[in-house]
Amino acid sequence: MKVLMILCVLVSSSHALEADAENVPCDITIQDSSNLTLNCSRRNIDEIPEKWPETLNSVDKDGHVLITFFNNTISNVSQIPAVPGKKVAISFKSNEIVDIEDDAFSNIERLVYLDLSNNYISGEVLRSEIFRGKYQCTNCTQYGVYGSIALETLNLGHNDIHSLDRYLFQYTPNLTRLYLNNNPIEILDHVTLLALASAINLQVLDLAKTDINSIPLDAFKGLTKLQQIDLSDNRFVTVPESLILVGSSLKYLTFNNNPINQLNDDSFVGLTNLIELEVGENDYLEEVKSSTFSPLKNLRVLHLCHNRNLRYISHKAFLGLKDQWTLKEVYLDNNYLSELSTDLMPWNKLEILGMTGNNWLCNCELANIVTDQGAGAKFQTGEIPFCAAPMRLSGAYITNITLPYCPTLNTEPKNIRVFTLSNLKPKHILYSILGVALIACLGMLLGLLVNAVKSCYNKKIKTQPIRYINLNSDTSFA
Ligand SMILES: *[C@@H]1O[C@H](CO)[C@@H](O)[C@H](O)[C@H]1NC(C)=O
Ligand SMILES: *[C@@H]1O[C@H](CO)[C@@H](O)[C@H](O)[C@H]1NC(C)=O
Ligand SMILES: *[C@@H]1O[C@H](CO)[C@@H](O)[C@H](O)[C@H]1NC(C)=O
Ligand SMILES: *[C@@H]1O[C@H](CO)[C@@H](O)[C@H](O)[C@H]1NC(C)=O
Ligand SMILES: *[C@@H]1O[C@H](CO)[C@@H](O)[C@H](O)[C@H]1NC(C)=O
Ligand SMILES: *[C@@H]1O[C@H](CO)[C@@H](O)[C@H](O)[C@H]1NC(C)=O
Ligand SMILES: *[C@@H]1O[C@H](CO)[C@@H](O)[C@H](O)[C@H]1NC(C)=O
Repeated sequence: MKVLMILCVLVSSSHALEADAENVPCDITIQDSSNLTLNCSRRNIDEIPEKWPETLNSVDKDGHVLITFFNNTISNVSQIPAVPGKKVAISFKSNEIVDIEDDAFSNIERLVYLDLSNNYISGEVLRSEIFRGKYQCTNCTQYGVYGSIALETLNLGHNDIHSLDRYLFQYTPNLTRLYLNNNPIEILDHVTLLALASAINLQVLDLAKTDINSIPLDAFKGLTKLQQIDLSDNRFVTVPESLILVGSSLKYLTFNNNPINQLNDDSFVGLTNLIELEVGENDYLEEVKSSTFSPLKNLRVLHLCHNRNLRYISHKAFLGLKDQWTLKEVYLDNNYLSELSTDLMPWNKLEILGMTGNNWLCNCELANIVTDQGAGAKFQTGEIPFCAAPMRLSGAYITNITLPYCPTLNTEPKNIRVFTLSNLKPKHILYSILGVALIACLGMLLGLLVNAVKSCYNKKIKTQPIRYINLNSDTSFA
């Protein structure tokens, strides 16, 4: 064992020496022959090295290689030397990149992950040529074609992108995850949409904090694999209708911090396969209306938290879902709620319920939800909500309260009395008819009496005809 450890130390120190010798000031960590990390973080590097340390080649041809240039001062990404391995990940996060050369990644066909976030890259720099693979020709005096690269994850977050080149993803057919968050996109223009539409294997799209307020109706047409989208920190006043086009594939929707005022039956139309929904930090959200969640027939997790003006959730918000209830986790923490309806949801079917940070009015309905319907057993440890009102219960755990005067509501959904003909018994009908007849009689009598009095009055006193003058229209009389 000791010998092994010593060997390890020797091997790694020799690696470090080698790196020094080649004047590449990076650390190489070799997990095993199939996993290698070249750490070039925080080393004041300002350009891409012309070659890699020899040891990089010790990785298997099926191995994984991660190269990170995190937090250096590279401004121009020139062509990167070839990297062995089956999956190559490279990070240029937090540099000063303003330009990327044509064919920058063409030596690394197995580049599956590329992080270009936190730089100064503009849309003009992002041309399809930068992602080209190798030039392939059988007879090079005529013409050949450029190959593709394996890129699956591309992080372009925190840059200076307004628009994407329509051919940008021409050579990245396997692009699965695209992060465009924190860019001044403002409007998803025609070419940007063409670019997105060409990334037909996209599963994850991050458009958070891109200053957009709408998504054209056909924007996601063709993105039949899109599973996850983040639209947080934008200027949407409604949840964009265009999501309906990916309704059959979309599983995760994040919609935090947008200026929406309410959620209603239009908000999530067609999102039948959504599994997880997050709507938080929407400062203007006040109301969740009837049937809001009704289209979400497969929802398992709902985060509706930190909406500090959210004061009302309709008791019909989950209308139509109760028979095939799929929700397991519901988080309603840190809103401005004071009451919930007992029949809002089948509380006992939840696994986790979050209700902290609201203004709960501890009344009989809440007691019913928490105690009789078992919601109190779904709070996570340390996450028991408090009563805010009435005064005498303020600050008590809502699981602690006993309200002796509450009627015993049963746990079945309330039987709302509906007046139908079949409910009528013959006796009722008879009473009704008699009642109506009685009222009619009284009316007639009253009418006769009034007429008699009137005629009497008219005879006795000769009154002047009353002139009604409309002050506005009668100026002509003056
Ligand atoms: C490679 O090593 C890192 C830790 O350095 C680990 O997180 C990762 O899962 C490993 N990858 C493989 C494919 O073994
Ligand atoms: C990479 O190197 C930097 C600088 O020596 C160090 O701070 C950082 O923790 C290293 N990262 C990894 C993943 O080893
Ligand atoms: C990068 O390093 C500089 C110091 O060289 C530091 O001031 C800065 O905060 C770092 N940036 C990030 C994103 O870590
Ligand atoms: C980046 O490097 C290429 C090739 O060396 C050069 O043509 C280009 O002008 C450089 N870009 C910038 C912004 O320096
Ligand atoms: C390549 O193209 C040239 C010009 O068209 C032609 O003369 C030559 O025969 C071709 N060679 C092959 C191997 O096809
Ligand atoms: C894309 O993925 C498929 C399936 O994994 C693979 O066969 C193909 O080689 C990949 N394309 C590129 C350009 O790597
Ligand atoms: C809950 O009830 C227990 C026992 O009655 C009591 O000791 C505790 O102070 C109460 N806590 C709150 C926050 O109401």
